[in-house]
Amino acid sequence: SLIEAEEAAYDAEGYTHFMRKEIHEQPAAVERALRGRLDLRFHTAHLGGLNLDPREAREIRRVKILGCGSAYYAGQVGAQLIEELARIPADAEPASEFRYRNPVVEADTLYVAVSQSGETYDTLAAVQELKRKGGRVLGVVNAVGSAIARECDGGVYLHAGPEIAVASTKAYTSTAVVFALLALHLGRIHDLSPADGRRIAEGLRALPAQIEEILKQEDRIAELAREYAAYRSMLFVGRVRGRPVAREGAQKLKEVSYVHAEAYPASELKHGPLALVSPELPAVAVVPDDELLDKNLSTIGEIRARRGRVLTVGHRETGDDAIVVPKNEPELDPILLSIPLQLLAYHAAVALGHDVDKPRNLAKSVTVE
Ligand code: G6P
Repeated sequence: SLIEAEEAAYDAEGYTHFMRKEIHEQPAAVERALRGRLDLRFHTAHLGGLNLDPREAREIRRVKILGCGSAYYAGQVGAQLIEELARIPADAEPASEFRYRNPVVEADTLYVAVSQSGETYDTLAAVQELKRKGGRVLGVVNAVGSAIARECDGGVYLHAGPEIAVASTKAYTSTAVVFALLALHLGRIHDLSPADGRRIAEGLRALPAQIEEILKQEDRIAELAREYAAYRSMLFVGRVRGRPVAREGAQKLKEVSYVHAEAYPASELKHGPLALVSPELPAVAVVPDDELLDKNLSTIGEIRARRGRVLTVGHRETGDDAIVVPKNEPELDPILLSIPLQLLAYHAAVALGHDVDKPRNLAKSVTVE
């Protein structure tokens, strides 16, 4: 089977864990997600399986993305990309919440189900509920021919290859990349200019090499992870584009290292969690060099004023500790900002001696209710 072949290759390559191997496979996975899909003549993306002609695409008034766990967080990155590039209102919601709240299903909404395995029961049930109500659903799925892929009206495969570690890394990143392609495609049908289309297409092409650059910092990130693993709890903060990055970063840390982590929008800090900040509660701040940089720097100042240690992930040296990543286009930066947080979680888990690939209480794919 594919999984057996993958396991054999894993042994041969001498990686200690699947999670680490899959983190390192990301440049190649992103390359595969992009292959044959960028149109450098019309500065758009072609997605063969969408089953959505341009006229139908023009009529979409809203995009609703559904998924569980990291698929949901990748969906939040995707919703922002669609809203920014295509100017179509978009949001993401946990698939289980959606299916239990008797949702209003609208004809001019495009529903997108996200799943690495394509077998997550809550996501599948949300798709079935949508179909029953006459909604149009696309799948953003990794496993070819899986239940969710079969149930959808069309979709885009990630082509990330098998993901074995319970904590999703390469599928998360590939999902974000596929959403960037979908946003570019919808954007160029709506109002995205050729110049902006080209800017995004070129940004996408730059991603694999930039991810490679980030992976070269692994030793230093591992060192930071060993230090931060000593804390009992961590706060993750981010604003707008940085917010889903913070949420996924906290999720990864919880899943594999069992260090408690809470993600907050940076602007909400002063409305509650600031009360927790102390030398015992460090923060990870996601700080891209975008139009919100000053706001983010002042948030970091507020944390440090309360003697909270701050690790920043962004484009410059700020905070007590900093991980600097290469800059892409601002809309695509969230894709790169997540990578160091995967390494941080992985190395924190290794430092604490946990079973990284099979965290306690979790399953790779939850196929029951
Ligand atoms: C499980 C896994 C998560 C994953 C989620 C969704 O809870 O532990 O890591 O993100 O399912 O999985 P899917 O296969 O639908 O993307």
